[in-house]
Amino acid sequence: MVSFLPGTHTERAYAKVNLHLHVGLRRSDGYHDITSLFQMIDLYDTVAVDVQPAGHLHITCDPIPGIDPQRNTMVDSALRYAEAVGLTASVRISCEKRIPMQAGLGGGSSDGAAILHLLNRVCGYPLTYEELMHLGAQVGSDVPFFLAGSTVAFVHGRGEHVEPLFPRDDLHAIVVMPHGSAVSTAWAFGELDALRERTHAASKRLEKPDLAAMYRLPVSTWSFTNDFRPVLGELEAVYDALDRLVEETGNCFGTVSGSGSAYCIIAENLEIIGQLQVKLELFLHELCLYVIKCLHREHSGATVSL
Ligand code: C5P
Repeated sequence: MVSFLPGTHTERAYAKVNLHLHVGLRRSDGYHDITSLFQMIDLYDTVAVDVQPAGHLHITCDPIPGIDPQRNTMVDSALRYAEAVGLTASVRISCEKRIPMQAGLGGGSSDGAAILHLLNRVCGYPLTYEELMHLGAQVGSDVPFFLAGSTVAFVHGRGEHVEPLFPRDDLHAIVVMPHGSAVSTAWAFGELDALRERTHAASKRLEKPDLAAMYRLPVSTWSFTNDFRPVLGELEAVYDALDRLVEETGNCFGTVSGSGSAYCIIAENLEIIGQLQVKLELFLHELCLYVIKCLHREHSGATVSL
C-alpha cells in the first residue's frame, strides 16, 4: 500500500495539434503505426484530484457535459494508477473543460495524462517515467506525448514513442472548430483503411530528420500533410475554404489536426493571425475560433514532473 498526501491537487492539461500525420497500414492488433509531429498549444483543461483516506479505493468523477462520468480517460488513468501502486483512497476527479471534444486536439488524452501526473505527485513519485509512460499508453495512444513533458515532439509507433524536438518560440495559431463536427478517431482510422483498400493510395513516410528540419523553416514553406484529410468527407467544403483562406493570406500554414475535426492555422506573425481572425469571423455562424500560442518550454506552465 502506498502513502499519499491528502488534499486537492490541480494541473493544466494542454491540447496539441498534429502539424504532420502519416498513418501506416493497419497492424494485426488493429492499431496503425503513425509518424507525426505533435505541437502543444496554449489551450487547456483544468484537471483536479481530491484524494482522501478511505478503507478501500473509491474513484468518482464530477459531471462534465458530454462525458460519461464512469468511463473516461481520467477515471481509467486513476484506476490503472491505483492498481499499479496499490493506492487505497477516495479519489474525486473534476475537470473544467475548454478543449473541444473529438476535435483531434488530444483533450481526453491530456486529461488522462494529467491524472497520472497528479496521482504520481500525490503519492511521492513511486512510478518511474518509463512506468508512467507504459500506463499512459494503455489509457490511449496519445497519452505518452502528454506525459513526456515536451512541447514539440516526433511521435511514432502507435503513439508510445515520443522523441522531443527543440521547440520554436515564435509560433501563433488559430484553431478553427466547425460547429457540430465531432469526429471519432476509431471511425476515421476505419474510413482510412476502407479508402486505401479501394484506391491502394499510400502516402510518403517522412522521418524525424525531415520533419525536424521542416519545422525550423518559415511556416509558409511547410509541406506537412495529414493522411486523414481525404476521409473527412462532410467537412471537405469547410476545409477547402480554410485552405483557400490560408493560401490567399500567405505567410501561414493550415492543417487538420489528428483525425479532425479541428483545423489549425499557424503563423509566425501576430498580424497575420489578426487578419485571419477578421476574415474567419465572417464564417462565425459555422465556426468556433480559438486564438492561441504554440507552447515552448519557457512559456509553458505545464507541470512536467513525473
Ligand atoms: O488509443 P486510442 O484509444 O486513442 O485509440 C482509439 C482508436 O483509434 C483505437 O481503437 C484504434 O481503432 C484507433 N487507433 C489506431 N492506431 C493508432 C491510434 C488509434 O488504429 N495509432
